[in-house]
Amino acid sequence: MPEHTFMLNGVRVTVDVAGDVRLLWVLRDVLGVTGPKYGCGVDVCKACTSHLNGKAFRPCSVPVGELRPDDEVTTIEGLPATVGRPLHPMQEAWIDHDVVQCGYCQPGQIMAAVDLVRRVAAEGRAITDADLDGIRNICRCGTYSRIREAVRAGARNM
Ligand code: FES
Ligand code: FES
Repeated sequence: MPEHTFMLNGVRVTVDVAGDVRLLWVLRDVLGVTGPKYGCGVDVCKACTSHLNGKAFRPCSVPVGELRPDDEVTTIEGLPATVGRPLHPMQEAWIDHDVVQCGYCQPGQIMAAVDLVRRVAAEGRAITDADLDGIRNICRCGTYSRIREAVRAGARNM
C-alpha cells in the first residue's frame, strides 16, 4: 500500500494505507488519535471537526491521499500546544461555563469555535449572533446555549 506523510499535532507521521481511506479513520484507527469523533462520516454532523493548516475541516470527508507532506493537521489533542499552554483559552472557557453534557460532540465544537474566533478576529470585528449561528456542529444533548456563552468568553482570551 502507498505511504502518506503529513504533520499531525506538530509531529511528522507516515501511514501505510490506501489513498482513498478518509483521514478520520486514519487518525482514529491507525494513529490512535480519538479526539475527532465519528458521527456521520459524510460531513454533516461536524463531530470530527479538526484544523487543516489552521482552518476548520472535517477529516471524515478528506481522503488521506490528498494530504501533502507539509500539511498540518491539528486535532483537539494538539490544540493547547498551538498557544503553548496546558489548555487552550477556548477549552478553559468550556470548563468555566460547564458546557459539556455527554461530551461526544465537544471536541468538534471547540475546534469549530476556535476557527470561528480566528476568522472573525482576522476581519477585525467582534463575534455576532449570526457568527454563532454559523457553527453547524450538532449536539444531541442540546448544549447550544452554553456553547454560545463559552465561545464569547473564549474569544475574549484568545
Ligand atoms: S463524522 Fe465528520 S462530519 Fe460527521
Ligand atoms: S454534549 Fe452530548 S452530543 Fe453534545
